[in-house]
Amino acid sequence: MSATQQNDTVADPRVREAKVTIPVYGQLPFVPERASGCHIFTKDGRRILDLYGAHAVAALGYGHPRLIHALNEQSNRLLFQSNAVALEVRAEAAEKLIGIAPQGIDRVFFVNSGAEANENALRMACMATGRKKVLSITQGFHGRTAAAATVTWNSEKWYGFPSHPFAVEFIPRDDPAAATEMISNEIAAVIFEPVQGVAGAYDLSSEFLETLRTATRRHGVILIADEVQSGMGRCGQFFAVQVHHIEPDILTSAKALGGGIPCGAVLCSHHMASQFGPGDLGSTFGGGPLACVAITATIDTIKAENLLQNVRQREAQIREHSVVGPVVKIQGMGLLLGLVCDRPAIEVRDALLEHDVLTGTSNDPAVLRILAPLVIEAAQIDHLTHALRTLAPPTN
Ligand SMILES: Cc1ncc(COP(=O)(O)O)c(C=O)c1O
Repeated sequence: MSATQQNDTVADPRVREAKVTIPVYGQLPFVPERASGCHIFTKDGRRILDLYGAHAVAALGYGHPRLIHALNEQSNRLLFQSNAVALEVRAEAAEKLIGIAPQGIDRVFFVNSGAEANENALRMACMATGRKKVLSITQGFHGRTAAAATVTWNSEKWYGFPSHPFAVEFIPRDDPAAATEMISNEIAAVIFEPVQGVAGAYDLSSEFLETLRTATRRHGVILIADEVQSGMGRCGQFFAVQVHHIEPDILTSAKALGGGIPCGAVLCSHHMASQFGPGDLGSTFGGGPLACVAITATIDTIKAENLLQNVRQREAQIREHSVVGPVVKIQGMGLLLGLVCDRPAIEVRDALLEHDVLTGTSNDPAVLRILAPLVIEAAQIDHLTHALRTLAPPTN
């Protein structure tokens, strides 16, 4: 090994990554060594309170014994097998997911990510209806693959493909009159996030969501709830549509679904599922044994530790005590919250990080995003409130 190579192996991983990966991510100024509960520990001795949960993935925090035990057991028994064979752990994960899903949903198709879930949901809607146009909501985010990016607001700047798989139009968010006018029998699907995560945890109104449900039913349009970010307990119920009593035709899940193991799922009714047969959909890694035990362990833990109630209580605590310092207003639901700030959210994020509190930004420059693990404790929220209070007033 040359001296330069040796130097590289001991160098900061940010420098090493920059030399060998495509530079598409802005990265935070610390390097985690390990993590436990809601804390990340760095090599240089910092203990950072993580209220961002690795983009809403770490629902159970880090190193939850139930999840680790399930993964260890399963990796020893059978690390991987494809959908060419039936697996007890896959059947169990699907049964558990159906058990927590909104009314009317009783079939699952497993995939690996949020974009893959939405890609398949949109394909299913186009196949089932034979229609060629989809409606989405302004400001919505659904992923980076072809169909998912087509329904993502403002994706033109990075879409990259020469054409779109279907025509798309965007319903102005929270405009029930526009929704009623735009939804017709030419539309295959309407896709929406009940709480728009990337947009800054903006929660769509019940009236708007009810209008989407009524109009799509009237015209035989498939209603797709993208719960990739809002689902798996994050909004105080297993899925955010359950807070609004909305029953979508298809629901997509990923991120927190496996508590940190990459996985995704498309959920629908048996009536919808009966329209597809062998070869219509597929995924090599979807529904692999490790992902399935992770899904089961995540659902079991949310139930056993009463985490839905914890989410609702921590939300109430943040709403009551955290409109302090730079925060002027709070939007969102559960632990998918947007803290609207009196200055650029990125400045607030950086200042909080100096206090060892990790939060996130969003597409709205004024909104700081909280995606805390569902296991977050009251004292840890107090820590956020205290850190916010100590931030200096804006410079101008
Ligand atoms: C609502 C929503 N849908 C889809 C996606 C895409 O998920 P993934 O990055 O797993 O492909 C995201 C990611 O942020 C998301 O927030």
